[in-house]
Amino acid sequence: MKKFFLAPSILSADFARLGEDTKKVIDAGADLIHFDVMDNHYVPNLTMGPMILESLRNYRIQAPIDVHLMVKPVDSLIPLFAKAGATFITFHPEATLHIERTLHLIKDHGCKAGLAINPATPLNVLEYILEKLDLILLMSVNPGFSNQSFLSSTFKKIREVRKIIDSNFSDILLEVDGGIKLENIGDIAFSGANVFVIGSGLFKYTNYELIIKKIRKELEYVHSRFIH
Ligand code: DX5
Ligand code: ZN
Repeated sequence: MKKFFLAPSILSADFARLGEDTKKVIDAGADLIHFDVMDNHYVPNLTMGPMILESLRNYRIQAPIDVHLMVKPVDSLIPLFAKAGATFITFHPEATLHIERTLHLIKDHGCKAGLAINPATPLNVLEYILEKLDLILLMSVNPGFSNQSFLSSTFKKIREVRKIIDSNFSDILLEVDGGIKLENIGDIAFSGANVFVIGSGLFKYTNYELIIKKIRKELEYVHSRFIH
């Protein structure tokens, strides 16, 4: 029986009180922290680097941290994020010259490795590297900004990736990122995802505990009807 994991994207948190806000969502019941790294090159936005991740660890954030690299090139940042305390490091295949080498680099630095698939990126990129992956991140918006609308074409892709994972008897996590909220999380779970990134759909509320409770209820309903 698999669990569903909630991964708040702190891109939507209050940056003036990042440690406090991060701690609050964990205390409210989130499972891991989604940490969006943007470089104003691979995507047209600029966010956080390894120093900020390290500060969160020093602030005693002990939950797994899921680093989503939207940067190009990728490799030089991997040792820095690993040292700063990343648990997962996920990158986009378009952003590195040698996908397989980058996956090894992540593992050699003691982290779990993920590959992020943009809305227009086909799934065949997974074919020869599946057994090297701990996580597949399906983008349900184009990367770069929070608070965008969920692209409905993602549902088909989630089902396809779920099929690939299950037919390989694998336990790779299937994470979906972008435009997730209380209203659509049930359908996303039902399609086969088990890790849910949620930015604006969580941080726009003041009572994190209440909204997480409602989200869990949605997920429990899916779980009771359909176990992946
Ligand atoms: C987009 C980021 C997402 C984003 C999610 O490039 O990768 O993680 O912050 O934010 P919401 O949930 O608001 O779409
Ligand atoms: Zn992300």
